[in-house]
Amino acid sequence: MCGIVGYVGKRDAYEILIKGLHRLEYRGYDSAGIALISDNNDLVVYKTKGKVINLENHTADLNRSGKIGIAHTRWATHGEPNDINAHPHFSGSKSLALIHNGIIENYKPLKEELIAQGKTFVSDTDTEVLIQLIEYIQESHNCDLFTAVQMALNSVVGAYAIAIINKNDPETMIVARKGSPLIIGIGEDDFFIGSDATPIVEYTDKVIYLEEEQIAKINLKEGLKITDLKNIETTPIINKLNINISQLEKAGYEHFMLKEIFEQPESLINTLKGRLKIDTKEVKLSGIIDNVEKFRKARRIIICACGTSWHAALIGKYIIEELARIPVEVEYSSEFRYRNPIIYDDDIVIAISQSGETADTLAAIVLAKSKGAFLFGICNVVGSSIPRATHSGAYTHVGPEIGVASTKAFTAQLSTLFLIALSIAHERKTISNEYFESLVDELQTIPDKIREILKLNEQIKNFAKTFTYAKNFIYLGRGYNYPVALEGALKLKEISYIHAEGYPAAEMKHGPIALIDEELPVVVIATKNGNYDKIVSNIEEIKARKGYVISIVTKGDTQVKNISNFSFEIPDTADCFVPILSVIPLQLLSYHIATAKNRDVDQPRNLAKSVTVE
Ligand code: M6R
Repeated sequence: MCGIVGYVGKRDAYEILIKGLHRLEYRGYDSAGIALISDNNDLVVYKTKGKVINLENHTADLNRSGKIGIAHTRWATHGEPNDINAHPHFSGSKSLALIHNGIIENYKPLKEELIAQGKTFVSDTDTEVLIQLIEYIQESHNCDLFTAVQMALNSVVGAYAIAIINKNDPETMIVARKGSPLIIGIGEDDFFIGSDATPIVEYTDKVIYLEEEQIAKINLKEGLKITDLKNIETTPIINKLNINISQLEKAGYEHFMLKEIFEQPESLINTLKGRLKIDTKEVKLSGIIDNVEKFRKARRIIICACGTSWHAALIGKYIIEELARIPVEVEYSSEFRYRNPIIYDDDIVIAISQSGETADTLAAIVLAKSKGAFLFGICNVVGSSIPRATHSGAYTHVGPEIGVASTKAFTAQLSTLFLIALSIAHERKTISNEYFESLVDELQTIPDKIREILKLNEQIKNFAKTFTYAKNFIYLGRGYNYPVALEGALKLKEISYIHAEGYPAAEMKHGPIALIDEELPVVVIATKNGNYDKIVSNIEEIKARKGYVISIVTKGDTQVKNISNFSFEIPDTADCFVPILSVIPLQLLSYHIATAKNRDVDQPRNLAKSVTVE
């Protein structure tokens, strides 16, 4: 969602900020803006609807000087996406400019109060209310800006990551966060800020992750001062970033999504590295080892997640229940957080989130923690909010995922869940040593098997062109392949805008079968596992109604192949590992259908990479 970048230093801020905005484009946005304190001490704000390139064109002949500035990509919540609602927003006197991620929930009563005090507003945003409030407090209490920001933040309800610059203090930036991330980068003799590390990593690997309800004054000469909202000062911890700039480039691929699909063999090796010990036939996940008693004795596991991460959770349920014999419930975080769930103190709540910032998942675990559950996070972005809020966890270690459609993060979540299921099963002795060891051996072969599937790319590309006409798709699977059907459908709809639904194959008879005709492509994941015969019958039912069947089959299969209109073969593996293979052709199919339709694959309309508002 919205993105923040800022700079205070001795270099020209404009180039750094624009480059930073480009780095943040992947998060999803609909307008962009920049504020600079120019060399002649003017506070200038430029903003435009649409892409960052529009902002660059708009500012081409304007004054872009200045050594301090803030910039923003906005994903509209309050007020339509237009030039006026875009950030930064000025205060009434135009001395202050503010950018903001998050939502100020009580902006309406605050706005009414400010209007009663004579303030006027130009935009429909909650953000403008905040900067007007800050200036009003500064004026009415005759206090410095830092104090005014503290006071204002004490009276707002909601979530924010903010950055403010002040025309009257051109070497200072004030930033704060609650519920939305904010990172401060420490350069040689300058400072950077970002809503994530992508706009910062090029300049420094030293960062401070601002904590909840912290506010920082960044001054070029005095350095950093960080307090909480009660003005208690803290000493920040400086962390080292573990990403590099090449991970943020397309490396010759047309889209980040394709690059990330192709990265999967390597990214899985990174997820498994040091955790899957082939020589000693061990699985070592420190997050489990450190809390082994909790996992051994867990009454139940609840997994909270959204979107693709929710699909991974569903596969996690199947494998943990099958191998470790602990009941697992899978919850949409957004439902869980609002329905007063029953949580026992011997429950383990696992949060799965690529970004580690998804607002609903974060709120779900905060709720579970308040009810005494032990929290375990499976996240990709190091230092993000969810891992910081959990008791323990495992990073997926696949580097930045830039394409909005999750691909390598999904398969990494699956491998992490496989490792979790295997370690708990081993600890609880719910599977034999021989079976455990055979699964350890098999898991190690998965990256090579993915490499083999990726060779289907050209074939899938040619085949995909046929489907640009399609208005609907159905995806079917059983058992471990049912969540894959959901994921295949989500992948297609989010990047191609073709309507697609996934179902457990047997559910077809209870409604969706009415949709089947010659026009409707039905993707059936029909690999040779537990329910093979049943899924063969389901395909026969589709064929009997003249449906067009695209099947994903196990290498060497002839039965399903013979009754399908088109098939893609994937290598055989243990039943529980099938999803990590069967999803790959579906990722490629979605990608190629979307590119054949000329869609903006990496930044599909209306979508955000990191959903930081509920
Ligand atoms: O960062 P998270 O894993 O928490 O994100 C959850 C969903 O927003 C995300 O998986 C979304 O569904 C993706 N666009 C799917 O490709």
